[in-house]
Amino acid sequence: MNDFSNESNEKIFITGGTQLQGNVRISGAKNAALPLMTLSLILNKGFTLSNMPDLADTRLMSNLLAELGINNSWKFGKVNFHGAPKINEASYELVRQMRASILVLGPLLASKGSARVPLPGGCAIGTRPIDLHVLVMEALGANVYYDSGFIIASVGSEGLKGGLIDFPKVSVGATESAIMTSVLAKGKTTIINAAHEPEIVDLAKCLISAGADINGVGTSTIIINGVNELNPVDHEIVPDRIEAGSFAIASGMTKGNIEITHIRPKDLEFFLKVLNYTGSEIKIDTNSINITSSKRPEPYDIVTQTHPGFPTDLQAQYMALMSIASGSAFIKETIFENRFMHVPELLRMGANISIKNQIASIIGVKELKGSKVMASDLRASMSLILAALAALGTSEIDGIHHLDRGYEKIEDKLSNLGAIIRRSK
Ligand code: EPU
Repeated sequence: MNDFSNESNEKIFITGGTQLQGNVRISGAKNAALPLMTLSLILNKGFTLSNMPDLADTRLMSNLLAELGINNSWKFGKVNFHGAPKINEASYELVRQMRASILVLGPLLASKGSARVPLPGGCAIGTRPIDLHVLVMEALGANVYYDSGFIIASVGSEGLKGGLIDFPKVSVGATESAIMTSVLAKGKTTIINAAHEPEIVDLAKCLISAGADINGVGTSTIIINGVNELNPVDHEIVPDRIEAGSFAIASGMTKGNIEITHIRPKDLEFFLKVLNYTGSEIKIDTNSINITSSKRPEPYDIVTQTHPGFPTDLQAQYMALMSIASGSAFIKETIFENRFMHVPELLRMGANISIKNQIASIIGVKELKGSKVMASDLRASMSLILAALAALGTSEIDGIHHLDRGYEKIEDKLSNLGAIIRRSK
């Protein structure tokens, strides 16, 4: 994600030290919603998504799709998409604000036979190239080149053709691009070294309901037989496992007792084991979990990995937890090269963390202190919120536009659990 969009002067003020208690309902997953929304470019006969999180990022995707000619109307978490894309060019103004905009490339190409999408650029957490998305388009028979900051992809009169997509590296977004671009291609596509994330499974589930022929999703090899057309579909977006994990950590930070509802615990299996090793008690039900944390967290080392390993999107939040642990822990980040931007800010709050290469060494401190801090990206902003919930005194968190990209109604949800939190200029 780029980090220069929707900046506001708003800040969040948190007075720490309250034990969080009660229920929190988790929203639909941002990272499932974004690729699902781009399916509206190929699902032109009727498409509705429910459990849609109302976030800066999903609103931005909605505007991008509207500019391309897809009308979308929002009502109580339900979004109806109508129409087919009228133009093949995505606007720089919108794409530059969100890296996930690259996901329109494949569906636009499948629908229009050509697509012009501005390069999304790097972001705070790393350079984030798009070569694997380009590899997908080329493997399916497209001609791709770069001109004046745009990626331009086109296919001949025969359209997209199924092919072999052998990823040299596992990528969530490129796996999604591969699925979305090949469902309407002629013939068979084989995707090797595919990512397994639940959001990818959700995308495939939606397409299968629309009549796509997809096998092996959730494993490393996905096989797709192209179909001629897709039918109307209503799909409910999978719950946000990262939001759920963030609230689970909030319990650990505050010796809390939180019931986290409307989730799929299976999607968090590895993370919940780790949280249990840190001393939180976890009761798992079909669609909810209860987390009780009664003592200072115990240290436990983690390495971020693709699903089903420890998610990189919970690394910053987990570091806040380890910063108050009763000993030392290591956190190794393997997915993004620069995802420790929260560290200097946690240091301001009294944490004891040093970084060497991609490994953070954290020596737990007894107490964090409320401070003025700056969020640098979405998950870093949640890490600082969590640290502030545990800290002595009041923290002032700046850079809140990052938080609004991925956490729906966060102040309401936290204050319902007893947090002392307010937003103000
Ligand atoms: N990569 C390449 N070339 C590409 C694409 C990716 O080298 O063409 C590299 C990336 O630079 C990175 C690695 O591959 O080092 C994995 O990136 P991936 O493509 O899997 O990430 P993504 O699809 O861009 C999604 C989420 C991220 C999440 C990652 C990893 C969405 C919209 N975004 O990004 O979410 O961190 O997968 O799980 O689904 C967040 O929500 O805060 C967030 C950053």
